[in-house]
Amino acid sequence: MQVHIQVNDKRSYGQRNPMIYGHFIEHFHRQIYDGIYDPDSIFADEDGFRTDIMEAMKKIKIPILRWPGGCFVSSYHWKEAVGKARTPFFDKAWRVEDPNTFGTDEYLALCKKLDCEPYICTNAGTGTLEEMSDWVEYCNLDYEGQYAKWRIENGHREPYNVKYWSVGNENYGAWEIGAKSAEEWGRLTREAAKMIKHVDPQTELSAAALADVDWNVNLLQDCGEFLDWISIHEYWDMVPEKNDLATYEQCMAYTIDIDHTVDEIRGLLQAMKLDKKIKIAFDEWNLRSWYHPNVHTIRQGVDKKDYLDPRNANDDNSQYTMADAVFTASFLSAMNRNCDIVGMANFAPVVNTRGCIYSYPEGIVLRSTYHVFDLYVNYLGDTIIDVWAEELPVMQVTHKNGEDLEMETIDILATKWSDKPGIALALINKHPMESQKIKLSFSASGNNVKWYGICGETPNSYNDVDKNEVTIFEEDLGDFTSNMEVELHPHSVNIIQIV
Ligand code: AHR
Repeated sequence: MQVHIQVNDKRSYGQRNPMIYGHFIEHFHRQIYDGIYDPDSIFADEDGFRTDIMEAMKKIKIPILRWPGGCFVSSYHWKEAVGKARTPFFDKAWRVEDPNTFGTDEYLALCKKLDCEPYICTNAGTGTLEEMSDWVEYCNLDYEGQYAKWRIENGHREPYNVKYWSVGNENYGAWEIGAKSAEEWGRLTREAAKMIKHVDPQTELSAAALADVDWNVNLLQDCGEFLDWISIHEYWDMVPEKNDLATYEQCMAYTIDIDHTVDEIRGLLQAMKLDKKIKIAFDEWNLRSWYHPNVHTIRQGVDKKDYLDPRNANDDNSQYTMADAVFTASFLSAMNRNCDIVGMANFAPVVNTRGCIYSYPEGIVLRSTYHVFDLYVNYLGDTIIDVWAEELPVMQVTHKNGEDLEMETIDILATKWSDKPGIALALINKHPMESQKIKLSFSASGNNVKWYGICGETPNSYNDVDKNEVTIFEEDLGDFTSNMEVELHPHSVNIIQIV
């Protein structure tokens, strides 16, 4: 079957916010310590940040970096990690000692080096409303009050003007320290929002939420007027306890309704007439959850080796294959299509664990997902335009839960640039074995066609210290002619530019 793609670049669905290509970094395992922040590394700069990792982050133009957690934040006290004397503390979320040598000032120095927006998630677990608003004082007030003066005393005269703040992280979950009920959450967030906005009305505020009507109705009824964002998280292949990874085909099954959570939240915001005021911050997402067994539950007889050693398994690069790349592209295409309501998305995380960049003492590995961000950030347009195909090929896939499903094997997104002529298509071939012929059945103002993409040899191709199976290929397809054909490789992510 040949897929005839048609495009109408006169009809646009809006501009995507570049923050949908955002990232997240948490005080977990080797994301920060022995990750991006490693003063002893041969790549460390004068502030202890790994220049090789920062260069890779800058190449995918990270627009916003969420920090410090994640579950970590719900018992984190920021004041212990600023100033000359740092107090090591026992991180009760991940049950390790945190030296507190990486704190607010180090994080904001990193964001400055990366030229990205900071996005700070506050402690709504054991934290207080003052602690949250004091943090905003420390970062954003010029000189008023003790916390701005403390920042100045610590050598930072100018305010950081941190715009994006979140109240809490997953406080709806029993696993979260300081979990809250829906009733408690609405009230707490409202009071926190009041104090934060009273310190700096320029801040944009998000709050922990999920696709649950009761939780969100309480939150939005109590605090909707103070919120600019609603935070949602999703990991599709939930493997925190066993690391029993879904197969390539099962991962493709997850892409079938990849934006169902967005649809639910949009519907609720519309019903509450808040969809024009509040946008979705999908501020933690990844195909797979992180592997950290025996840590969230209070199990008797669990020993350190039962919950610390297994975290190293996240570092096995062979897990991050074309399944991750094709899923990640499918998610990013869906967020582009939902640009009316999704304004931010943060890949969880960016460095190590299940991130797109893996670091080791002698260098870094760019995992398959890194190249997807490179393709979407650097080769695709910023304005979503109308695209359709009369018929799309389908295949049967079996979900990890055993359900047999039908899946369209080709995902099509069309874009143009707001500042230059031409169009760019993101075409994903999810089929594990079959290539797919597509025909560009439309006229275009551009005349040269360039094809960029990643595919790997097999669905299980991956990159590692001594292996580079997944890299971006580039092919000049010459002059554009209407109805020209391209054959998409199986398990591939493709950008076709007509410029
Ligand atoms: O597995 C990591 C955790 O996933 C993050 O800390 C939390 O926000 C999410 O539940």
